[in-house]
Amino acid sequence: MPTTTQLLAPAVSPEEEDLEQSLRPRRLGEFVGQQRIKEQLAISLDATKARDEALDHVLLVGPPGLGKTSLAYIVREELGVGIRCIAGPALERKGDMAAILTGLERHDVLFVDEIHRLNRAIEEILYPALEDFRLDIVVGQGAAARTLTLELPPFTLIGATTRTGLLTTPLRDRFGMTFRLDYYEPQELGKIVRRSARILDVEIAEDAADEIARRSRGTPRIANRILKRVRDVAQVKHDGVITPDVASEALQLLEVDGHGLERMDRDLLGAILRKFGGGPVGLSTLAVALGEEPDTIEDVYEPYLLQLGFIQRTPRGRVITELGREQFGAASEDTKLF
Ligand SMILES: Nc1ncnc2c1ncn2[C@@H]1O[C@H](COP(=O)(O)OP(=O)(O)O)[C@@H](O)[C@H]1O
Ligand SMILES: [Mg+2]
Repeated sequence: MPTTTQLLAPAVSPEEEDLEQSLRPRRLGEFVGQQRIKEQLAISLDATKARDEALDHVLLVGPPGLGKTSLAYIVREELGVGIRCIAGPALERKGDMAAILTGLERHDVLFVDEIHRLNRAIEEILYPALEDFRLDIVVGQGAAARTLTLELPPFTLIGATTRTGLLTTPLRDRFGMTFRLDYYEPQELGKIVRRSARILDVEIAEDAADEIARRSRGTPRIANRILKRVRDVAQVKHDGVITPDVASEALQLLEVDGHGLERMDRDLLGAILRKFGGGPVGLSTLAVALGEEPDTIEDVYEPYLLQLGFIQRTPRGRVITELGREQFGAASEDTKLF
């Protein structure tokens, strides 16, 4: 059986990539929720097209699975331009970035995922490219060194990151627009689940879609992952239709509770409560206790627990709240989950 943390895993496996592609909304109108972002983006897209310019550089901020990559592809689709996608940590040499920049065509989108993990020297090449569509290349060495300047076509950088605080100020300042994606409402996730079920050609009851939506911790990617698992249970153990009973059965197998919390969330609450007397406990200490990377805890697990009001970040560390204690107590008593 797959482990529960796979539902929350920020990384997308190659096999899942196909599923994501097929479920990804193509146009702004298909993108559910995030109303304010859609409105602002629609205006900028219209204005840009009318002026025949490149769209301002866009920074997308938010936890994994909320739609950053989808929005980048939507911008490309709406503008009818090309897109080049790279992962921040994958670029190792300045020459790689120079090659990518010189390969761009007029008004293209350059999507840099995890832009906070770009190597600093590579990031510096971006500054003049973003500001003046210019690439400065140093050729030769020592006294013979000269700077060659290449003109670049106007393009749009779309950067994705989990937290703006991770970006250097000069890079952050070069984005004309910054959009923060919020967790989705259950009703919005319900729409996404029904749409995905249609695309996957699986029959799902209204109540079952709502139940999956409520338990997806506000995250479309998790809603889609759960839907896929639920579909498997429906096909293997039932007649293929996702009824509310089938959904509950599958969610229990996946160890997702009524708040959409998974085993790791409960372990995290449990550790703060039992090992550290309710906190405060520092992030790195907590990470060691849980055998998890501090970054993963901070970017994947904590934002939702903070949003639910189950934990708080204080200058001295993480503390569990009264609500968090109640939730943990309730979860422990639920013998079906433990
Ligand atoms: N607003 C949305 N409407 C519909 N589906 C969405 C939306 N946001 C995300 N998704 C779905 O969730 C999946 C993950 O979204 P993605 O854009 O890859 O998130 P991120 O890049 O922020 O991690 C996509 O494949 C898509 O199917
Ligand atoms: Mg992404």
